[in-house]
Amino acid sequence: MFYELLYTSICVSRKMDTVDLEGILKSARKNNIIHHVTGMLLYYKGEFVQLIEGNKESVKHIYDNFILKDIRHESINLIFEGNIVSRSFTDWSMGFSGDDDVVKEVFISTSRLLMNMMSEEAKKNPRTLGVAGMISSYDQIRKSPSR
Ligand SMILES: Cc1cc2nc3c(=O)[nH]c(=O)nc-3n(C[C@H](O)[C@H](O)[C@H](O)COP(=O)(O)O)c2cc1C
Repeated sequence: MFYELLYTSICVSRKMDTVDLEGILKSARKNNIIHHVTGMLLYYKGEFVQLIEGNKESVKHIYDNFILKDIRHESINLIFEGNIVSRSFTDWSMGFSGDDDVVKEVFISTSRLLMNMMSEEAKKNPRTLGVAGMISSYDQIRKSPSR
């Protein structure tokens, strides 16, 4: 049995560049590997949507001690957390998709974008509540007018 957690947040600096994002991903991936946490981070026009998954204790640890404490984002909004049978993003210590990918895949739905990141095994399973929530949260951000 695993655990997943989904939240959204707002980036503090209005314009995140690739270097800032790479910095976040580098430390995130380092910690996640140690704690066997996997997941997916989506960024679009200053907003984040992130799903993390793993053992319940590890997921809580990462969220409470690293994610909540990072001053590079604010208005952190916990959308969903709960048990899952298997992971959706097995191959990713933290998968990422940002503005550029969204622009490239503008005609691709959010569910397709996430499916592209999932392991073959996970694609065969029904969507978890967290992944379903991730799709609707990201759809909302993509459709909302520019801030
Ligand atoms: C949008 C966002 C997502 C993050 N995701 C993770 C994560 O998945 N895992 C993690 O350990 N830290 C995550 N963090 C926190 C940082 O990258 C954090 O500063 C770091 O883990 C602590 O780094 P250090 O051990 O190098 O000091 C995230 C931060 C932000 C702003």
